[in-house]
Amino acid sequence: MKSDILRELARERLPRAVYDYYVGGADDETTVRANREAWAALELRPRVLVDVSEADASVELLGHRLPSPVALAPTAFHRLAHDDGEIATARGAGGRLMVASSLSTVPIEEIVGAASGPVWLQLYVFRDRELSAALVRRAEAAGCVGLCLTVDVPVVGNRERDVANHFVLPDSMEMANFSGLLQSELPMAGGSGLAHYIADQFDASLDWGAVAWLRGVTRLPVIVKGIQHPDDGRRAVQAGVDAIVVSNHGGRQLDGAQATARVLPDVVAAVEGRLPVLVDGGLRRGTDVARALALGAAAVLVGRPYLWGLATGGAEGVARVLDDLDHEFVRALRLLGLPAAAALGPEALAPVR
Ligand SMILES: Cc1cc2nc3c(=O)[nH]c(=O)nc-3n(C[C@H](O)[C@H](O)[C@H](O)COP(=O)(O)O)c2cc1C
Repeated sequence: MKSDILRELARERLPRAVYDYYVGGADDETTVRANREAWAALELRPRVLVDVSEADASVELLGHRLPSPVALAPTAFHRLAHDDGEIATARGAGGRLMVASSLSTVPIEEIVGAASGPVWLQLYVFRDRELSAALVRRAEAAGCVGLCLTVDVPVVGNRERDVANHFVLPDSMEMANFSGLLQSELPMAGGSGLAHYIADQFDASLDWGAVAWLRGVTRLPVIVKGIQHPDDGRRAVQAGVDAIVVSNHGGRQLDGAQATARVLPDVVAAVEGRLPVLVDGGLRRGTDVARALALGAAAVLVGRPYLWGLATGGAEGVARVLDDLDHEFVRALRLLGLPAAAALGPEALAPVR
């Protein structure tokens, strides 16, 4: 498979600890595998003799017309993959939606400056709330159009590869949104440096009040990422969230968590169309994107595939991966007998027996 070939090329180029950090998941990586397998298990049901001479891949999301339903998931530390780091990623994203990780190795202002499409800033809430609030103000000033609050990391997942590799950010790089808060300054008790950082800095007492807090410090749309239960979808609606992302963090948090392709329909049903639902985890083909939209997703995020593109070809490598996904998606639409992304619905999938 194409994305696996690219991953192998990236593996040859990257230091072992970096490759492992990117590819890995929690515990036995069951959920990493399940995410991919669950998309593949959804059978498609094409219609024929429909005029598909034109196929419109664009989607509408929170007032933006996106050229493609494929957006970039927030992933940390891009300079580990390429010297230009998140600048290269933002360039490679083209007009697509990019969700920039708060743990980037380039400051948010420079990422927005390099992007031609909309940028959301992904947020973790730190014990020191002012640290997060200050970053929100910077994101607003920089021109971000959404804040994506990640809620599935009260504590870090058990990523055994990172523990074995003593994964840390090299001294030559920093968490550029938090200059002065260098990971290397933290006391190292062995194991994963990132895990120590998260245990030290992230606020594990976070509850739904965090959404109200965030609403109080910004007027930007608030997107909650990491929903894995229909009841939490309902809570998000009650909390006045603008959109949610069904995500298990690419299998990096709770191993054994349900594949996102299987949670998505329940969450979509629970929110009753009152907010857009995005999804990520294991989407590798244009047909996977079609499956997600058929289940009711408004758009999808991809993570690891564009990191492999970044590691092997910088901005061009990122663009190639995303262009390929878009082309595959358009081909899938046409083969399904659908003239537009907006026409995707449950009829495009075979009933599960
Ligand atoms: C190397 C790596 C770093 C990540 N860093 C973050 C992060 O900083 N913030 C966040 O919300 N999610 C983070 N994620 C999770 C992704 O946003 C996304 O949920 C996941 O990668 C999607 O699955 P996929 O990689 O199978 O496409 C990270 C994922 C990876 C692989």
